[in-house]
Amino acid sequence: MLNFNYYVRTDLRFGEGQIRCLEELVDKYAFGDKKNVLLVYGGGSIKKNGIYESVIDNLKGKNVKEVSGVLPNPRISKIREGVNIAKEMKADVIVAIGGGSVIDSAKMIAAGYYYDNDPWDMVLDAKKIKEVLPIVAILTIAATGSEMNKNAVVTNEETGEKLGTSSKEFIPRAAICDPTYLYSLPASQTAAGTADIMSHTFEQYFRKNESAYLSNRIAEGVLKTCIHYLPIALSNPTDYEARANLMWASTVALNSLISCGMSGAWSCHPIEHELSAFYDVTHGVGLAIITPRWMRYVLNEETVDKFVEYAKNVFGITGDDKMSVANAGIDATEKFFLDCKIPMTLREIGIDDSKLREMAEACVAHNNLSSAFVPLDVNDIENILKDCL
Ligand code: NZQ
Ligand code: ZN
Repeated sequence: MLNFNYYVRTDLRFGEGQIRCLEELVDKYAFGDKKNVLLVYGGGSIKKNGIYESVIDNLKGKNVKEVSGVLPNPRISKIREGVNIAKEMKADVIVAIGGGSVIDSAKMIAAGYYYDNDPWDMVLDAKKIKEVLPIVAILTIAATGSEMNKNAVVTNEETGEKLGTSSKEFIPRAAICDPTYLYSLPASQTAAGTADIMSHTFEQYFRKNESAYLSNRIAEGVLKTCIHYLPIALSNPTDYEARANLMWASTVALNSLISCGMSGAWSCHPIEHELSAFYDVTHGVGLAIITPRWMRYVLNEETVDKFVEYAKNVFGITGDDKMSVANAGIDATEKFFLDCKIPMTLREIGIDDSKLREMAEACVAHNNLSSAFVPLDVNDIENILKDCL
């Protein structure tokens, strides 16, 4: 039966030049006297491509302070630093300029502003997230959907953990998505980001809910968009149509829309988060490596129909033998990632077999995968990781 709650609140401004709305959005959504703006950004790409300058130009008259140097797989230490700055300046709003790492850090800083103890507590226990400063996200990479969702994923460099937390209060009040901001992305980040979009879609599509017909068809549309436009964006990084469709796909893939009517644990993300925690790998690369191996591992007589639906509706593969069609769909997925020059084995990214069991154990300690599309235990996860070598 199709029964669900769907909560959205992000004022989304999509298209070239939408940065002109920044001041309006800050004035609309900031708390207090709307003067004190905390900028959060990463390692400097926004200074090279001119985005930083246009943000500053659109915040004239505001009291702006900054937290910069957020790393991919963002660290809790940077979030602690950001909370201190936000408290000192009495921030009214946070403007996050970047991708998932920056926006997730902004979410944690925004909650940390109202939290008196260590922000890591809110990663371990999402119930501790109460009040949150308003966030305006300016997206610069199409990948996580963080610009319109309730998640934050954080690395604790002291404990070696990478964990997600979540709150409706985290959902940005506004997001500016200008596809031209993606023009400066390196090919590797473009491809990894798209693999992440596709993985979010797979995690919600490979579920056992036959009544969510519409959600499934939207998911297939997102996948087809990625498969069509990623090669175009890679060969012509300034193709507006390709960048725009990938950017919109990233938001749609993880703003709750395609999970309407779906339930159950995700499979590849929990495994990838351990790869990132142990080896600091690029999230989308880890997912591209794991996904086809996970697909082959869970393909069986019970799951074959879903894989046939995928192969047929996304790749147009047909045939009489269900298993062959399903396998052809998985092969096409792997070939797509390979053609887009994503490293497709763990060894290629410097990971050997020495910590596979440890990662599998950490994965089951941090997640309950018994409600996944196919339930996975520690041995299953170790086997999938072995297949990735
Ligand atoms: O730091 P700078 O210099 O800005 O460079 C970044 C960074 O090195 C670069 N970049 C971003 N926009 C650019 C650009 N370079 C040139 N031009 C641009 N326009 O890209 C690199 C990666 O940035 P990052 O923010 O890490 O990428 P992404 O958006 O893929 O975020 C990944 C993080 O989000 C988490 C991941 O686990 C990972 O920590 N996730 C967050 C989710 C969420 N909030 O819902 C869900 C996801 O499944 C995921 O777990
Ligand atoms: Zn992801």
